[in-house]
Amino acid sequence: MMQINSFDEYQKTYKLSVEQPEEFWSGIASTFKWRKKWDKVLSWNFSEPNVKWFEGAKLNITENCLDRHLAENGDKPAIIWESNDPEKDSITLTYKILHEQVCRFANVLKKNQVKKGDRVCIYMPMVPELAVAVLACARIGAVHSVVFGGFSAKSIADRINDASCKLVITADGAYRGAKQIQLKEVIDDALIGCPSVEKVIVLTHTRTPVSMLKGRDLWFEDEIKLVDTDCPAQEMDAEDMLFILYTSGSTGKPKGVVHTVGGYMVYAGYTFSNVFNYQPEEVFFCTADIGWITGHSYIVYGPLSQGATTLMFEGVPTYPTPARLWEVVDKHKVNILYTAPTAIRSLMGFGDEPVDGADLSSLRVLGSVGEPINEEAWHWFDEHVGKKKCPIVDTWWQTETGGLMISPIAFVTPTKPSYATLPLPGVQPVLVDEQGNVIEGNGVSGNLCIKFPWPGMLRTTYGDHQRCKLTYFSTYENLYFTGDGCLRDEDGYYRITGRVDDVINVSGHRIGTAEVENAINMHAGVVESAVVGYPHEVKGQGIYAFVIFPNPHSDADLSRKDILQTVTRVIGAIAKPDKILFVSGLPKTRSGKIMRRILRKIAEGDISNLGDISTLQDPAVVEEIIEKAKQV
Ligand code: PRX
Repeated sequence: MMQINSFDEYQKTYKLSVEQPEEFWSGIASTFKWRKKWDKVLSWNFSEPNVKWFEGAKLNITENCLDRHLAENGDKPAIIWESNDPEKDSITLTYKILHEQVCRFANVLKKNQVKKGDRVCIYMPMVPELAVAVLACARIGAVHSVVFGGFSAKSIADRINDASCKLVITADGAYRGAKQIQLKEVIDDALIGCPSVEKVIVLTHTRTPVSMLKGRDLWFEDEIKLVDTDCPAQEMDAEDMLFILYTSGSTGKPKGVVHTVGGYMVYAGYTFSNVFNYQPEEVFFCTADIGWITGHSYIVYGPLSQGATTLMFEGVPTYPTPARLWEVVDKHKVNILYTAPTAIRSLMGFGDEPVDGADLSSLRVLGSVGEPINEEAWHWFDEHVGKKKCPIVDTWWQTETGGLMISPIAFVTPTKPSYATLPLPGVQPVLVDEQGNVIEGNGVSGNLCIKFPWPGMLRTTYGDHQRCKLTYFSTYENLYFTGDGCLRDEDGYYRITGRVDDVINVSGHRIGTAEVENAINMHAGVVESAVVGYPHEVKGQGIYAFVIFPNPHSDADLSRKDILQTVTRVIGAIAKPDKILFVSGLPKTRSGKIMRRILRKIAEGDISNLGDISTLQDPAVVEEIIEKAKQV
């Protein structure tokens, strides 16, 4: 793969990628395996939007992730799996074994009538079979929709129904740290309202009792015995759908972001190899869950397309002890560690002893993703983990972008704490003001947009193209709007300052305030609610809910717990508010719009400058909220 080795080379490559994007990307794409090459590199407009990369090309992504490595690297570890339980043996799947397992499971899907284009929902623990399931879908051209294990039955049902999934792949249960999650039970609840699902394939993992429905539910272990290992890959068009991944926005229900085979593959593979400077014998460890885009692109598709060894960790960094993550790094001699600021901050909270007691000498490159990394966490990561000799790549990107967008390239781009630094080749960011005017020059801030297509970008939102247009391409004409605010400093370096829409970033997970409000409002007794984010020491942002609840239980804490229970039922535990304040009214304009700006200030504890509140329907409400907030 074409790795950039000096800053000068980066600048030249970047220039080429802007001046001759088609030439640049066809050069990168040529390092992949295509059954037939493209007729046209790119056609696009951002007004519909309609973006096509590598039109006319034929391929299968699993031939790139598996088959093409067999001849020379068949015995190289593709996936190393580390259990939640440190006592349990790790598992290594070589490329040969992974290929065989993927083909076998692909045949199971076929046997169960899954065909090219059918949607398959995957709700699984972080076990090798999850990667196998994802790749098996891709092998036969089925579209996977992976749902993170922290979502509720209702959230899963909404996602399954939105995409009319035909089959679900799950497990009896999952371990995460000290917790066990009954995955199959959640699926059973979800499927009460999912008429499109014909079959459920269940992997045995935690050995918790499960109910298996006759005619619908099948054991993974039984099914794979009934098929052989020969499964030719389905030929796909470059623009055929590869997967759907649901993500939260500022309004309504989550959107199904759609990625297509060719462009996504090229983008995930190129950014992986280049940004992390992956070397052939290295072990790459991304701590994300495959339920999120980071896991899709940098546990599965990016690394495997480059013939890398990718480490999959079932557990959490702090279980059973705060030294666990470091033990995993040392045990598997991890060379590249890619994690989230939340994890770093939570480990920092345990002091330096666990990390300083580890060897960590195998580490060569560190990465951060998902939320802004504060300087303190950046320096701790640099000093205690990287021992000041590993470059830190602070990678800014999104579910919608498919892969890394603004990021240092390891050993190439001079880093700066809390800066994602510079756009990668092929990425053309612009900052715009509220009116949509492009802000030129350096030392400026604005809303971050991208003005030219890149191969990994989303193509649509599943089943609702208009929504894709409205959400991303209508705020500013002919620009993709990211939803993020951004600063470009005097050196032209980019620093992402956070969402400018009503999305909260909790521990690197995107949560829409409207979604949480809807969930809270479903609780009997709640009249209305308003949800905002506030700075949280470990999670980056926490969820603060202001709730009108006229008759709470005499023990108000019990009412709070009831509301948390409701949110857990409706969305999942990840969306539970950190703080709930019962109030008698909300600050509203005379036209009835909630003034979130004021609530945000109160939640931040900054009431010195609430701005003009004279236009409120009832300014007294603000006084009441401020008083009550002091007691939380
Ligand atoms: O606000 C930005 C933040 O995470 C959002 C994207 O979330 P999601 O689609 O869930 O993908 C997360 C993993 C790619 C962005 O709009 N974000 C992501 N990376 C960074 C970041 N904010 C600051 N710095 C980053 N490196």
